[in-house]
Amino acid sequence: MTLAQERPTITAIAHPLEPLTPEEIAAAVAILRQEKSLGATTRFATVTLNEPAKEIVLGFRAGDAIVREAFAIILDNATAQTYEAVVSLTQGKVTAWKHIPDVQPPIMLDEFSECEAAVKACPAFLDAIAKRGITDPSLVMVDPWSAGHYGLADEAGVRLSRALCWVRANPTDNGYARPIEGVIPVVDLNKMEVVRVEDHGVVPLPPQSANYTPEYVKNYRQDLKPLEILQPDGPSFTVKGHEVCWQKWKLRVGFTPREGLVIHTVTYNDQGEERPILYRASLAEMTVPYGDPLPHHYRKNAFDVGEYGIGTLANSLTLGCDCLGSIHYFDAFMTNSRGEVAQIENAVCLHEEDFGILWKHMDWRTEATEVRRSRRLVISSISTVGNYEYGFYWYFYQDGNIQYEVKLTGMISTAAVAPGEVPKYGTLVAPQLYAPAHQHIFNVRLDMCVDGLHNSVYEVDIEPEDDELNPYGNAFYAKSTLLGTELEAQRLVDPMKARSWKIVNPNETNAMGYPTAYKLIPGENTLPLARPSSSIIKRATYMTKHLWVTPYSPDEKFPAGDYPNQSAGGEGLPQWTLADRSVENTDLVVWHTFAHSHVPRAEDWPVMPVAYIGFMLKPMNFFDENPSNDVPPAASKHSCCN
Ligand code: NI
Repeated sequence: MTLAQERPTITAIAHPLEPLTPEEIAAAVAILRQEKSLGATTRFATVTLNEPAKEIVLGFRAGDAIVREAFAIILDNATAQTYEAVVSLTQGKVTAWKHIPDVQPPIMLDEFSECEAAVKACPAFLDAIAKRGITDPSLVMVDPWSAGHYGLADEAGVRLSRALCWVRANPTDNGYARPIEGVIPVVDLNKMEVVRVEDHGVVPLPPQSANYTPEYVKNYRQDLKPLEILQPDGPSFTVKGHEVCWQKWKLRVGFTPREGLVIHTVTYNDQGEERPILYRASLAEMTVPYGDPLPHHYRKNAFDVGEYGIGTLANSLTLGCDCLGSIHYFDAFMTNSRGEVAQIENAVCLHEEDFGILWKHMDWRTEATEVRRSRRLVISSISTVGNYEYGFYWYFYQDGNIQYEVKLTGMISTAAVAPGEVPKYGTLVAPQLYAPAHQHIFNVRLDMCVDGLHNSVYEVDIEPEDDELNPYGNAFYAKSTLLGTELEAQRLVDPMKARSWKIVNPNETNAMGYPTAYKLIPGENTLPLARPSSSIIKRATYMTKHLWVTPYSPDEKFPAGDYPNQSAGGEGLPQWTLADRSVENTDLVVWHTFAHSHVPRAEDWPVMPVAYIGFMLKPMNFFDENPSNDVPPAASKHSCCN
């Protein structure tokens, strides 16, 4: 993240969902500072667009007046108190100010480096690393892991990081090869001082380096020939502000410090009619629980959205490396913790990809062959959370499919063992170095609007027919069951029944009389492996169901609650759904949880090749026929169709 040096000139805001401009962010901070007399101990955890009410967005017509508001979360380090504010940029004043007791805002990016500096200045820490033969603290890496909640009296109300440390052999060395096992500095982030250094006993540093950068990799393979993506006439999409039109799709790109990439108001133009599908979609939470019970590791279970802000950790993407082809980049603007405008240049990449064949048929009698190439629109961003990278990809296809994919890569979280020891809860990837098993559990919030705001959700299982109706034993059918209330709609995947969930508009039908629908097709999934009694299951209960459905409520945004950092749990989905509200033929939100269980492999070291996980949203009798029937044959001069 860099501080915005030159601020672009104010352009007229063309839509209520346009993200805050740098000028608007600066204005919101200035108004807050002045009206609330905020001093040097204030940190701005978030300054982002206060999204207008749904009816305002949906009723908006070009040229309508737009009211602009910022939402801010403010932490006062001096008093350890948290406040939420709404600033009207239109009126130039604070319109809401609320004290939020007993919460911890996410760990901010500035706190990462300040925490590292505090640890390296702590004599007890220097003593602990000296016991392990480390004399140069400048080579030590301190990752400020969230502390979680374990009911300890001396941790209550203290803003904590339970930092984990590694050491490099030299300034460009991959430090994750040498964990400083057993040493855990616990840091009060409000005072920015070490409150204790836990030492669980000396484990020798692993002996081997493990590097992956060009200065270390000397034996690159030699047989790669160039592969160029050429789009001589440019891309097929158009971008106006943050509105994207691509073939029949229209949507808006958003970005928040907490969720990163957000997709708004997705429609598909079906023979001239713009049909709504999704009002808003984002990664609403993710949690990475580790399965190693050792003192160094049992509290590792980061909430990368709610405890850190996956948007604040987004990378600046580079052409030819992160994405290929004709790219449109969107910058992201936010603040650093001191309220200065911060810019992530090229935070979001928009481009098209060839995706193999879309459809094909050969008439075997005449050998007449029709085949179409599939083109997909890709909207993506990549975040670095300490050791790990996550790429977040939304794909839109010509046949009406929408796909969400997370790409997991980067550095596995490592630990050291004594020579000769084989750990049970992880995999040795180098001598005396192992990576504990863990899960990456994601929850995507899908504010659906299939052909309008009134939707219902059905579970679809493929079932064999009952014996009395099944004389030949071959019969099976898709059985749809209405999930009418919040408790009925807490569901798990069942691959043996090819289980999917159908978001239906019961008031609209296609040509055959079926209600129009989009189907959520789950991908790889498991349940969390932590025991129900564990701290992490109480704090991230959303992980225990793969499907949740709630009636839309503007305040219900985050499945583990607004402030999961050091929370005791119980908030968010488990709390809201106790009311068991109706979710039938109403404005509803679908929450989909999916889990990647990662038992590390030798091949994940020293840098992990991408692992993929996600889900599909597919039209299900939404159209009257294959909507991609009108895709023309490939026009490329290299195409055999010409
Ligand atoms: Ni992993």
